[in-house]
Amino acid sequence: MQNPETLISEKKILERVDELAAQISLDYADKGEVVLIGVLKGAFIFLADLSRRLSIPRHIEFIAVTSYEHGSVRSGAVRLVMDVRRSIEGKHVLVVEDIVDTGHTLHYLIDMLKSRNPASVRTCALLHKEHKTEVDVEIDYLGFRIGDEWVVGYGLDYDEKDRTLPYIGIIDPED
Ligand code: PRP
Repeated sequence: MQNPETLISEKKILERVDELAAQISLDYADKGEVVLIGVLKGAFIFLADLSRRLSIPRHIEFIAVTSYEHGSVRSGAVRLVMDVRRSIEGKHVLVVEDIVDTGHTLHYLIDMLKSRNPASVRTCALLHKEHKTEVDVEIDYLGFRIGDEWVVGYGLDYDEKDRTLPYIGIIDPED
């Protein structure tokens, strides 16, 4: 089987991750520890690369959510399936996502995490499909804006395939 066509090369991704890590390190320099919350599964590679490039104290957590689907259509409702292990009360939280598509997942997470009285909640996403937005969410640190392609790699999958591809590729799910 052919590899997916490249949308964003590994080199470009890592250059951008360097830039994001530098900006985050600067912004949080006087804030003490930041709690990075990776949204499983897709964010695991981005979180690993981003967190290792930060020059600030950080604590790693993961959270998992699932979207309710009607057939293959997402309803927009999101459900928590795995929570963080430690309290975030009084902490500076940075939610790390691989992709923001409709925005429902991040919107749900921001609301849910803010209700736990953290010192702050910010968001970082590698990719944003702007034209698919259904609910506006603030992305404080964004890697790349992309179109409406079906993307895989660097944590993103199609039916669990291509998650560990080192670059962001485009596939046609009809193939
Ligand atoms: C993806 C991605 C985000 C969500 C974004 O997860 O990792 O969490 O979709 O979509 P939204 O903006 O439309 O809510 P997915 O449900 O594919 O699960 P996975 O990360 O476990 O593959």
